[in-house]
Amino acid sequence: MAIQWFPGHMNKAKKDVAERLRGIDVVIEMLDARLPASSANPMIAQLARRKPTLKILNKQDLADPSVTQQWLSWYRSQPGTQAIGLDAGERAPSQKLIAACRELVPNRGGLDKPLRVMICGIPNVGKSTLINTMTGRKIAKTGNMPGVTKGEQRIMLADDFELFDTPGMLWPKIEVEEGGYNLAASGAVGRNAMDEEEVVLELLKYLLQHYAAELSARYKLDDISGMQDWQVLEMIGKKRGAVLGGGRINIQKASEIVLTEFRDGLIGRLTLERPDEWAVWKKRAKEL
Ligand code: G4P
Repeated sequence: MAIQWFPGHMNKAKKDVAERLRGIDVVIEMLDARLPASSANPMIAQLARRKPTLKILNKQDLADPSVTQQWLSWYRSQPGTQAIGLDAGERAPSQKLIAACRELVPNRGGLDKPLRVMICGIPNVGKSTLINTMTGRKIAKTGNMPGVTKGEQRIMLADDFELFDTPGMLWPKIEVEEGGYNLAASGAVGRNAMDEEEVVLELLKYLLQHYAAELSARYKLDDISGMQDWQVLEMIGKKRGAVLGGGRINIQKASEIVLTEFRDGLIGRLTLERPDEWAVWKKRAKEL
């Protein structure tokens, strides 16, 4: 699936981030717990290669808890990497975040060696919400494109802990096809950049494989084993009254219902990728 990002700004964004990384002790990358690998920015991984990294699996309230655990273990097994799960309901997120960063660089801290941390993440991952919770105030969003950045934000989370916010940064090319679909399903990709029906069919295919019980329960569908994604979409349309003249199913309406309900967590706590699956998808993408 072709997704249109903001081309042309990428090199500038890359240069800006490389510059800002100087003097930074820890890079925090916020990820969507429902799609940790797809919501990661390969550019960050490349630029922050030698920096200790904290992965925050955010929106864990929407994700499958057992799969979140798999991802946390996987990230923690990577050198120089720590990982925590978070969601907007967390009462003291800064404590969790500060503790994880201190663990990564125990030799920094104290007023003469303050810990300097940079936080990044793709748009919609929940970065502003987290920063607002941690600071207890409403801070304007940094822009999602270099041209609209309103200057870097420095937030003091403790006397010796400085957090630098970055603009949301996208990447020029989605390398893993499944990752593109997952991003689109999560709402990180604007509606104009995708074919909603295609995204929903891919979503349903995955849910049929891993979360058939949740799907049946939400849409009151009887035996859906052995069914195809499009058949399930038609059944959902019928159940929800998304029907056109002559009894034809309004597929666009049915697709909107499924997408909205997935994003709101109404189908259940679902995760669209697991570490072992991602490894297979990535390998296949490289071979193409
Ligand atoms: P960003 O700065 O990374 O672009 O993301 P932002 O904080 O604006 O969050 C994007 C959307 O995700 C918001 O919803 C926000 O409420 C929601 N969100 C953030 N963190 C969490 C979380 O941990 N769990 C859940 N379930 N949702 C989260 P919105 O519909 O765009 O806006 P609104 O409903 O807050 O007005």
